[in-house]
Amino acid sequence: MTSQLEPTILVIFGGMGDLTWRKLAPALYNLVLNKQLPEHFAVIGLDMKNESLDGFRLRLRDGANSFCECGEVDEKTWNGFAPNLSYLSGDFANPATYTSLNDQLKNHEKHWGSPANHIFYLATPPGIMETIVRGMGAARLADDKHRTRIVVEKPFGHDLASAVALNTLLTAVFDETQIYRIDHYLGKETVQNILAFRFANALFEPTWDRRYIDHVQITVAEQVGVEHRGAYYEHAGAVRDMIQNHLMQILTLVAMEPMVSFDADEIRNKKVDVLRAIRPISKEHVQEISVRGQYKAGLMEGQKVPAYRSEPGVAHDSPTETFAAIKLFVDNWRWQDVPFYLRTGKRLQTRASKVTIQFRPVPHQSFPITAARTWQPNYLIIDIQPQEGILLRFQAKQPGPSLHLTPVDMHFSYQEAFKSKSPEAYETLLADVMSGDATLFMRADQVEASWSALMPILNVWENSRSAKFPNYKSGTWGPKAAEELIAKDGRSWLQPTPKDVQLGINLRTQKDQ
Ligand code: BG6
Repeated sequence: MTSQLEPTILVIFGGMGDLTWRKLAPALYNLVLNKQLPEHFAVIGLDMKNESLDGFRLRLRDGANSFCECGEVDEKTWNGFAPNLSYLSGDFANPATYTSLNDQLKNHEKHWGSPANHIFYLATPPGIMETIVRGMGAARLADDKHRTRIVVEKPFGHDLASAVALNTLLTAVFDETQIYRIDHYLGKETVQNILAFRFANALFEPTWDRRYIDHVQITVAEQVGVEHRGAYYEHAGAVRDMIQNHLMQILTLVAMEPMVSFDADEIRNKKVDVLRAIRPISKEHVQEISVRGQYKAGLMEGQKVPAYRSEPGVAHDSPTETFAAIKLFVDNWRWQDVPFYLRTGKRLQTRASKVTIQFRPVPHQSFPITAARTWQPNYLIIDIQPQEGILLRFQAKQPGPSLHLTPVDMHFSYQEAFKSKSPEAYETLLADVMSGDATLFMRADQVEASWSALMPILNVWENSRSAKFPNYKSGTWGPKAAEELIAKDGRSWLQPTPKDVQLGINLRTQKDQ
């Protein structure tokens, strides 16, 4: 425990829920292990469920045990931490719940002999958010603007209008500076490293623009299906679930202008500039620049998996997309006419998230054609997960008497370079909320600008329910139309294969397969 952090009480609405169990419990336990919690620290789990204090503590311990990358929970360490956990059962719609909560907050402070920061974490389904925020407002739990913070999880609305309404609701009770909107991708080390790579090195930035870059690909491919979240996913789909937040945030980090300082608002200003510069999509062009897909049954690593429409909680004729690919442009001096291809999908062949920057060809090919048969453009690949690293592909002369050029790779791996595991995203983000650093959280204007850019696609899709679903087999790279989307520009997706993902080499284009 560190005495540099101010006394803190973390109130988790939805303390018995799935998110607390899977993500917050292991993150908290890691913070305990790494001695990153304040000396005076308490967690109040708040839930509608009538649960005992022991039941709550066991649930958190089980979450830490099951999901912490650190392995099994150490008995002694846990027993030292468990007394910091308390539980309050109450109806979120009942003002008495907030009175009891207030009493508990005051009790802790009295015991410590010091005021504490209050972090209200909404680990609850989106439908209940309004009730909670209004309940806190009425109980004046948000009044101390310096000591009180609220953490909200996505979805930040269902579309632009509902996102604006949500922001209006939140800012009626909290100042924008108190609101921490979580996008867990921003907590990933490899995503944060994009800024370090770009702006702490003099080497790459001079070529980071339309003069040298042909196009950018952002892929977040998942092997999992919708699992137990069918009911939620039916109202979301790949654009709302992944592109509106995670992929757009990655795009802003790749495309933003250099920040003047590492100040949270300075960085967020630069990011929002990118979102605002995204070329508006007219409804006539939606078809041309976007593709949606839905998975059929298939084989994932030799195992049979069901179609999306056969997953629990999913309608047998569901029109929800589990795959989306879109082409965007950022209309500014740096990026004019450089395409950004974004794609994400569930039940794809490999789990791999990466950003690929493809550079333009050399202006003049001076080598004999026979020497350059296997020539490829320069690529820079930022591997976000599961491999964490950066790969730079360039041409080299193959050893031997004759002149043959061949692509080779320079590869940086986090694991090799740092010999330690990266912290989990939630651990980083929780630590940041506690220290009051909002750099990695989304501001209201970012959320709205991202919705605004994507609304034309969502509107057209909603008005023309795709009759051709399902249209890709589980275990493949998505629908054929996604290849065509990029192929019609004379380009192709750079596909990681399972082996390539392990080695970080041998990337091939979809056409080669
Ligand atoms: C979540 C989405 O935000 O991100 C999930 O709701 C998705 O559908 C998950 O599976 C992916 O996160 P990660 O960190 O496993 O890539």
